[in-house]
Amino acid sequence: MKTIDELLAAGVEGKRVFVRADLNVPLDGTTITDDGRIRAVQPTVAKLAEAGARVIVASHLGRPKGAPDPAFSLAPAAARLGELLGTEVAFATDTVGESATATAAALTDGQVAVIENLRFNAGETSKDDAERGAFADQLAALADVYVGDGFGAVHRKHASVFDLPARLPHFAGYLIATEVGVLKKLTSDVKRPYAVVLGGAKVSDKLGVIDHLLEKADRILVGGGMVYTFLKAQGHEIGISLLQEDQVPVVQEYLKRADERGVEFVLPVDVLVAPEFPDLKTKAPAHPTVVAHDAMPADQQGLDIGPETRKLYAAKLADAATVFWNGPMGVFEHPDYAEGTRAVAQALVDSPAFSVVGGGDSAAAVRILGFDENAFGHISTGGGASLEYLEGKSLPGLAALEN
Ligand code: 3PG
Repeated sequence: MKTIDELLAAGVEGKRVFVRADLNVPLDGTTITDDGRIRAVQPTVAKLAEAGARVIVASHLGRPKGAPDPAFSLAPAAARLGELLGTEVAFATDTVGESATATAAALTDGQVAVIENLRFNAGETSKDDAERGAFADQLAALADVYVGDGFGAVHRKHASVFDLPARLPHFAGYLIATEVGVLKKLTSDVKRPYAVVLGGAKVSDKLGVIDHLLEKADRILVGGGMVYTFLKAQGHEIGISLLQEDQVPVVQEYLKRADERGVEFVLPVDVLVAPEFPDLKTKAPAHPTVVAHDAMPADQQGLDIGPETRKLYAAKLADAATVFWNGPMGVFEHPDYAEGTRAVAQALVDSPAFSVVGGGDSAAAVRILGFDENAFGHISTGGGASLEYLEGKSLPGLAALEN
């Protein structure tokens, strides 16, 4: 994979460089609630601009339906990028139309522009190669060179991620180079004990990675909404908690395999329950109760791991040499259910292990809960991307940069 350093060494002055970033940041209206992904790509953009390139930054945001939708505009992200760079950033109100063409043409050496959400064009995510290719052709017309730096989207076979690099000289940006370097450490030569903490709502999103980790990890700690499918698989009452009934047999099979392979599956010994999902807008007190994992009332739902589990998980992480964490332990957005996620983050901060926080939600949780990012080995910008990397899958956006 050629990196941006080779591009810079060859000289970029006056060249139009298309940077495919992942500016898919969480928004509350037009307010960015976590700008981690913008900060992560800033060094690549800054370096190119300093070297005199005319930089066109592109990204998706959310999942609009292939047509313009103001709720998913990249304008707030463009403004934030400008603040971080300390310079005016131009904004094109379309992707490959008049505005983008004029904005790209008007760039002078060292200037930066952001074009509108790539997913406002159906060609970006199309399953049809020709439709994607046609959009990639239009994007290619905006630039001379491609820099791939949207690590969070490299698992998507999308026009700007997969098809566009084939049409332009292409290089990996600093973020992709760093992310891949870190994740490689988790796939080969991992230092043991290797503990993995998996959370998040759906077990079905994590099946591939669990399958793979059963061959690699020493310990797998489970939390979040997916934990209730595990507890159900063990035959416990889970009340009205989140359940993926169809995944119960799969989970049972994983628990059996873990046992055979000597991989320790660590599940909660207690949980916080309440009759209702909390109000995340008002954050009104939720008054949860602590119950043992095998004593969940039939009319209540589990919303976070309990205090004994927090201690147990911290202990299981204390002597690990490597930790990968993906997914919050509970509904951390509500203060009554943030302690489980906070405890895992704190355990990683306290542990000498090389820790990788993967995933949009867990990365955002770490920052929203006020932890210092530098206390972790690495905070990945990729949720699905880092999981698919660990599964050993070929990722379209990385494959495209390698060719
Ligand atoms: C992410 O948030 O994981 C990336 O930005 C990819 O977004 P997507 O899941 O909508 O493709």
